[in-house]
Amino acid sequence: MKIDKTRSFTGVDIGTSRLVAARNPNGGLQLDMTLNAFIEVPDMPATVNSLKRQGIRFVRHGGVLLAYGQAATVFAELFHAELRRPMRSGCMNLQEPASTLVMSRIVAELVGEAAAKPAVIGFSMPSAGLHAEGVSKASLTNHRSALEVMFRNLGYTPYAVNEGEALVYSELEDSGYSGVAISFGAGLTNVAMTYLSVPVLDFSINRGGDDVDSAAAEVLGEKAARVRLHKENNFDLLGTADDQMSRTIKVFYEELIQHTIASLASVLVSSSDVPRLDRPIPLVIGGGTTMPAGFKKLFEREIRKMDWPFPISEVRQARDPLNAVARGVLRYVEVNYGQSEEEAAAAV
Ligand SMILES: Nc1ncnc2c1ncn2[C@@H]1O[C@H](COP(=O)(O)OP(=O)(O)OP(=O)(O)O)[C@@H](O)[C@H]1O
Ligand SMILES: [Mg+2]
Repeated sequence: MKIDKTRSFTGVDIGTSRLVAARNPNGGLQLDMTLNAFIEVPDMPATVNSLKRQGIRFVRHGGVLLAYGQAATVFAELFHAELRRPMRSGCMNLQEPASTLVMSRIVAELVGEAAAKPAVIGFSMPSAGLHAEGVSKASLTNHRSALEVMFRNLGYTPYAVNEGEALVYSELEDSGYSGVAISFGAGLTNVAMTYLSVPVLDFSINRGGDDVDSAAAEVLGEKAARVRLHKENNFDLLGTADDQMSRTIKVFYEELIQHTIASLASVLVSSSDVPRLDRPIPLVIGGGTTMPAGFKKLFEREIRKMDWPFPISEVRQARDPLNAVARGVLRYVEVNYGQSEEEAAAAV
């Protein structure tokens, strides 16, 4: 497939904890990442100077300064300030009054203004929640609309791309974009099934890495940030470490995996949309929560315990779990919005 060279393409993973932009200038993949977080600091000449000196971006809001993005975490340590987030459980958090303001700044910082030529941007969208307490249709509509406005203001033509489908586009080209994809993120777990690139079903579960952190922190009497650090550094789900924190994180990881697999099984059993498949299809996992050593093995062990309505050829972990959604969104817009007018007409 030839990609239309007269347009530029960007794929953005809009995550609860991280934003990743993928671009493909001149054939080489370019990835940029920032934290989707900010802190509040007092509006005083000394703090303004300090932020400026360290190159940390900030915006004034309600008589305080909101410093945002990756570097804000350094400042959070310095000021013992609480890290806040514009999003919660996969969507813009409107209970956070500064969410739209801060998020539009973070997004602008990450992708910049559109280049002179027509610029297509794909952005990831979570699926509706499987359970009543999950992501509502109303939150999705609001989230999507807010992001479209942000991207249009920067000069882009935005397209929403389902997060699970993005993972299929990133990893399952060799199966003709057929398979089940599960994106284990911070706020949510997104699941999608496609067959020959046609969406079959998708849903989200209102749990992710954040919940592992907070549940383990609660029972340990620790701060979630400390649990997160431990989890992200040298933690092995099948390792022999016998300290209390490792054991507790493992408990909640196992619970997340089992809950996800049980939810997928219940959806497949009750859905009339699942096609009869004679060929086995792959299952791909991605997202930051799949990063610890042993995750894939543990997940596959649980998957193989169940009977599925179609054969699963393999469990595959995304090559680059933290960036797979952004790469897949980019691929999706290139494939689906990247044909030149003549090519599209010829295809018809
Ligand atoms: N090396 C690591 N080991 C374990 N967990 C990790 C690692 N790196 C990141 N994570 C966890 O992955 C999660 C972030 O993953 P990801 O970037 O896929 O989520 P997100 O896209 O921001 O959120 P969501 O998709 O839920 O909106 C966080 O919970 C983080 O703690
Ligand atoms: Mg995500």
